[in-house]
Amino acid sequence: MVIELKIQKIIFGGFGLGEYEGVKVFVPYTCPEEKLLVNIKEKKKHYWLGEIKEILEPSPFRIKPKCPIFTQCGSCDFLHIDYFYQLVLKKLIVSDTLQHLSKIFFPLKNPLPVLPFNYRNKVQMVIKKNEKISIGYYKKNTHEVIENPNCLINPTIFNEIRNSFRQFLEENNFEIYDERTQEGNLRFLVMRLGMKTDKILLIIVGKEYDKRIERFIDFLSPEIKNKITGFLYNLNPLPKNRILGSDFIVIWGNPFYFEELLNKKFRISANSFFQIHHQATENLLKRAWELIAPEKNDTIFDLYSGVGIFSIILSPYVKEIVGVESEKNAYEDALFNKIINNCLNVNFILGKCEDVLSQLTKATKIIVDPPRKGLSPIVIKELVRISPPVILYVSCNPATFARDLKTLLTFNYDIETIELIDMFPQTYHVEILAKLVKK
Ligand SMILES: C[S@@+](CC[C@H](N)C(=O)[O-])C[C@H]1O[C@@H](n2cnc3c(N)ncnc32)[C@H](O)[C@@H]1O
Repeated sequence: MVIELKIQKIIFGGFGLGEYEGVKVFVPYTCPEEKLLVNIKEKKKHYWLGEIKEILEPSPFRIKPKCPIFTQCGSCDFLHIDYFYQLVLKKLIVSDTLQHLSKIFFPLKNPLPVLPFNYRNKVQMVIKKNEKISIGYYKKNTHEVIENPNCLINPTIFNEIRNSFRQFLEENNFEIYDERTQEGNLRFLVMRLGMKTDKILLIIVGKEYDKRIERFIDFLSPEIKNKITGFLYNLNPLPKNRILGSDFIVIWGNPFYFEELLNKKFRISANSFFQIHHQATENLLKRAWELIAPEKNDTIFDLYSGVGIFSIILSPYVKEIVGVESEKNAYEDALFNKIINNCLNVNFILGKCEDVLSQLTKATKIIVDPPRKGLSPIVIKELVRISPPVILYVSCNPATFARDLKTLLTFNYDIETIELIDMFPQTYHVEILAKLVKK
């Protein structure tokens, strides 16, 4: 079935939304105000899913995507949209989510522009073999692998390493893992880069150790080899989609890399969380610092602290900071980072916020930066008990943010500001920073 549709807006998830005879129709890779002929692919009970058949009236913000596999690859959503208009759309998406899910009406500004390409400091590629070996991303909504030797959002060095690795595997006849049969060995290529330090952590994931992989380091060009700070093998025998298993073998160098943010140094282990865009992370930290407005007598809790970026940036300006992090590697990185940055007033606790918060009493300001699922009811209950005058909520998911914000507002908090940071250019994702103050 083909229909004519006008796109009203872009929603979280990146789809354009239009309405046809009272039914909501979602179409990816569109722009607001566009008139389209749409092929209906699927009719669900309350909405339909479609794809563009023809663009009748394009948006003035539509551009020619620079990537030949855009729309097949699952990584980018907005390559067809002018970068500055992407920023407007992200504001509209968050504003819409807040209104729609939580009846919160708050004026937002566009996020600041940041480096729109070559920004990702971490990439996880799937290795697959059909006739030939492919190393790339899963094709959208499938388990097929699509290759892009020149991915635009990756630093070019990741593309170069990927291309060399594929050649190395082909020349040496390595066994590649097959998801369906669970046979074979090599599964993923993971790369992490310190944008400021220019050092790379290289991780090959396989079911079992294949010693021949060690020779890859000498297969790389001397310039690239010079930038590798650690070469690791990760053992992941489990059939699940999770990329990294728990055991690492250090083939060469260190099991971590370093990055610098606002002149502070951070150690990051292979499986520790780290924000993906260097410039956007510095913007996030600067703005968090301004909004927290640190004072000499402050006791700050940095919940979901990762490798400690907020704690370490704020440490020189306050009395004390307590960070809470559930992943052991990130916690150990945070302890290390505390020492190298001489932050003696910071203490990190290893554990889940759900378990740890009941031991903590008084904070003047609390930062929460949870994963996508947001705050659990226990954490909200503990926040309300501690009742800090200021909560800084950092979120990468507008939906759970809207849910949690609605709850916190019922406990006598007011929104002072909600701001956006473009951590993920070319995608529909956006980082949110909100300051809540006790009434
Ligand atoms: C979005 S990251 C933020 C990390 C850090 N604030 C940063 O910006 O680099 C969330 C972190 O929370 C940790 N985490 C997840 N669930 C947790 C929990 N229930 N309690 C404490 N930490 C948790 C994750 O391991 C991860 O390091």
